Amino acid sequence: MSTNESNQTLNYIVQPGGELTGSFRVPGDKSISHRSIMLGSIANGVTEVQGFLEGDDALATLEAFRSMGVEIEGPDNGYVKIKGVGLNGLQAPEGELYVGNAGTAMRLLAGLMAGQGFSVTLTGDRSLTKRPMNRVANPLRDMGVKIDTAPEGRPPMTIHGGKPNPTHYDMPMASAQVKSCLLLAGLYADGITSVTEPAPTRDHTERMLRGFGYEVATKKVGGKNHISLNGGGELNAINIDVPADISSAAFFMVAASIAPNSDITLQHVGINPTRDGIISILKLMGADITLLNEQEVGGEPVVDIRIRSANLKGINIPEEYVPLAIDEFPVLFVAAACAEGTTVLTGAEELRVKESDRIQVMADGLQTLGIDAQPTPDGMVIKGGQLTSGEVETHDDHRIAMSFTMAALRSTGPITIKNCAHVATSFPGFVELSQKAGIRIEESEG
Ligand code: S3P
Repeated sequence: MSTNESNQTLNYIVQPGGELTGSFRVPGDKSISHRSIMLGSIANGVTEVQGFLEGDDALATLEAFRSMGVEIEGPDNGYVKIKGVGLNGLQAPEGELYVGNAGTAMRLLAGLMAGQGFSVTLTGDRSLTKRPMNRVANPLRDMGVKIDTAPEGRPPMTIHGGKPNPTHYDMPMASAQVKSCLLLAGLYADGITSVTEPAPTRDHTERMLRGFGYEVATKKVGGKNHISLNGGGELNAINIDVPADISSAAFFMVAASIAPNSDITLQHVGINPTRDGIISILKLMGADITLLNEQEVGGEPVVDIRIRSANLKGINIPEEYVPLAIDEFPVLFVAAACAEGTTVLTGAEELRVKESDRIQVMADGLQTLGIDAQPTPDGMVIKGGQLTSGEVETHDDHRIAMSFTMAALRSTGPITIKNCAHVATSFPGFVELSQKAGIRIEESEG
C-alpha cells in the first residue's frame, strides 16, 4: 500500500473568493520527466536533466530504472543525472516494478520491456489498477510479445521480453501513450515499426528520440499522422531542460480568468502545439491570455503566460481540441461553470478512462455545488451559474482535486474536497503555491 492509500485521508478546505496576483513557475512537465528517465537510461552516456518533476509518479519511474541497474543521481532541486546503460543494458529487477498512479509509466514501460531479455511485472496503485491495459497489450501481442494481465486487461501486467516483430498499427483511439509504447517496442524490432493516429497527440516521445539522435519519421497519410522508426539504432546522451507543465499551469490559467481583479504570469511553460488546447479553448471562451518571451528549449517551445480576469462565455468546444487539452477538461469544466451561457463538450469519451471517470466525477461534483452539469457518453453540457458551498469527492484523482480548488474562487461558501493526497503525483507544493497566488486553501486530515 502506498502512502496515498493509508486510512487517513488528506482533504482540502477552500474558503470562497480571492484574487490571484504574482509571477510563478509550476513544477516540471510530467510527460517529459517520465520520458527523460526512460530514454536517458537506454542511451549511451550521461544524460543530465534540469527541471525534473519531483512528483510521486516521475519518482516511481526513476526508482523503476534504478531497480533495473541504472545509476541515477538526484533528484536534487530538479536536477537528475542518468548514467545510461545503452539499448540492451537494462537488468532484470528483483521484484515487480511499481509505477504508482502513472498510466504513462505503465504503458510506455510495457513497450520498452517488450524488447528486454527478461520478464517483468508492472503494478500500480488503486486507481491505476482499474485502468485498461489491453490498448497496449493487444498491439504488443500482435508484435509477438507474450503479455499477461489481470481480468479485463487490467494491471498487474507481466511482459515476457524478447524480440518484438516490427508492425504497423492503425490506432483506434488518439493516445500518446499507445503511440509511444509501440515506438519504444519498435526500437528493439528488426525493421520499421509505424503507427497512425486518428488525431494528433502529444509528440514528446518523437521529439525526445530525435533529441537523442534517433531518427523518427512523421508524415501525413490519408489526413492522419503516420509515425515510424527503424529498430536497432542507438540513443546518445543529451541534456534535457524540462519546461513547466502546461497541465499544471492550466489550473492557474482558469483561476486567474474566473477570479476578479487577477493578473498573474506563469513562467517557462511548455506550449508544445500538441498540448496547447487549453489556451485555444480558454481564448474562445473570452480569456485574456498573452504569451511572452517565446523561446525553444531542448526542442520544445516555452513561454511565459500572462492571464488576467475575464468574463468567460460558454462555447461548443471544437472536437479537434480534445486530444490537445485531454488532461485539462476537469478545470475547463470549472471555467464553464463560471461562464455566461452553456458549454458543450463532445468527442471526449477518453476522459472516462483517466485516473478517474472524469466526466462522471466532475458532473457529480459540479451538481453538488449547484451547477447544472449533465454528463453525456462522450462529454458534458454545462450551464454557467452560481457555485455554492459543498463537499466533493476526487476518487483519488489529482486533477479533480486541483480543479475543485479553483471552483472556490467563485463559490458562495467553502468547498471541502475529499481525498487529495494524489495531488503529490503531479504537483508537489500545490497548496503552498496556491496560497501564495491568493487562494484560501488549507489541508485537513480526515
Ligand atoms: C500522456 C498521454 C495522455 C495523457 C496523460 C499523459 C503521455 O494519455 O492523458 O496524462 O505522457 O503520453 P493518453 O495517451 O491515454 O491519451
